[in-house]
Amino acid sequence: MSDKKNIILGITGSIAAYKAVDIARRLMEEGAVVRVVMTGAACKFITPLTFESITGKPVLIDLFSDPFSHINLSKEARLLLIAPATANTINKLSCGIADDLFGNLWLTYEGTVIIAPAMNHRMYCHPSVQKSIRELKSSGVNFVGPVSGSLACGEEGEGRMAAVSTIVEAAIAALTPKDLSKQNILVTAGPTIEPIDPVRYISNRSSGKMGFAIAKAAARRGAKVTLISGPSSQMPPANISFVPVESASEMETAVLKYLPKATSVIMAAAVADFAPSTVNKSKFKKTEISAINLKKTPDILKKVGEKKGKRIVIGFAAETGKNIDNAKNKLKSKNLDLIVLNDISQKGAGFDVDTNIVTIIDNKGKITDYPLMKKIEVANIVLDRMMALKR
Ligand code: PMT
Repeated sequence: MSDKKNIILGITGSIAAYKAVDIARRLMEEGAVVRVVMTGAACKFITPLTFESITGKPVLIDLFSDPFSHINLSKEARLLLIAPATANTINKLSCGIADDLFGNLWLTYEGTVIIAPAMNHRMYCHPSVQKSIRELKSSGVNFVGPVSGSLACGEEGEGRMAAVSTIVEAAIAALTPKDLSKQNILVTAGPTIEPIDPVRYISNRSSGKMGFAIAKAAARRGAKVTLISGPSSQMPPANISFVPVESASEMETAVLKYLPKATSVIMAAAVADFAPSTVNKSKFKKTEISAINLKKTPDILKKVGEKKGKRIVIGFAAETGKNIDNAKNKLKSKNLDLIVLNDISQKGAGFDVDTNIVTIIDNKGKITDYPLMKKIEVANIVLDRMMALKR
């Protein structure tokens, strides 16, 4: 079996088949090699050409065009993802009916399987479908969804295919080695906002992308993850506990609540350093404000450093310029094991973007520079460095 993320994406005859285009595209963005297999019914909903254009590889449909394609394909693949999976396909798979390429592939494939059902809610509840799902689950097949919602037929109920992002995340997580399965990681992300009045606030810039990437990478690697985040438009990753907060003091309360169970803490949040001394109950008129008195917010990471125990504690330092000394001071004063310095004045680093350029400094003074990379890659490096300290 290949080490690559070789995925067979099986598409069956459901109106949700068009969403498989996005699934294929996103899996490829995650570094997967995607081979598409379609049933004849799937081709009535969407053309194979669409998938050939996206994946750059021929789509397999016909059992007889190459008599051994199902055998060769199943040897190479590390994951069989069937999305969408119809009631007909689920029933056929549970019985092992091999009257087309799809069914033959199923019988030759021995690796991990994920099925994302999509059908009318009454079909989904039908005893034959439920029995097939039970049998497939008991033979080790993983199911993602379906979810409740409005269905293509105009009815409401359970039968809608799970969100594309949920399916893609399940696929990538299934291919990721679980080296963090004994870890319980507390991650902070996003900005905090400190209200002036019900309308206005002081904040720091942060989209949450860096912290969410750390939570996502850790969950994929099998860790229990609690993500505490200030306001962010990012979707919380699958399989984590998500705790939304607003202000620094709310973040502090949440961090201290979840700290006892954490084996490591990684603080990527851009906590506002100052908050208005008082919060006005009603909206100030423009003419009423000439100055705002500020107070310091709690230094959450410093408090975590004081209560550190055997935990690994990692902070981030957002600096304008590669200020190694500033970062080292933060590392020392907050009792950290590692600090991840990002020079936010560099193109492709810091706030909002999907990439970062970091320098990691350890508590012995060792400095390691990393090139521009995606935030998910930075996240995995931070997690690798965390694990190296545990050995
Ligand atoms: O969210 P993105 O758009 O992806 O941007 C990512 C990021 C640039 C916000 C992130 O990579 C980053 O650098 N986060 C830390 C930002 C920051 O507040 O740095 P700082 O140098 O001011 O703080 C140092 C450390 O102390 C940080 O871990 C911070 O979370 C923590 N801190 C700071 C102040 C405070 N009152 N309490 C804290 O716990």
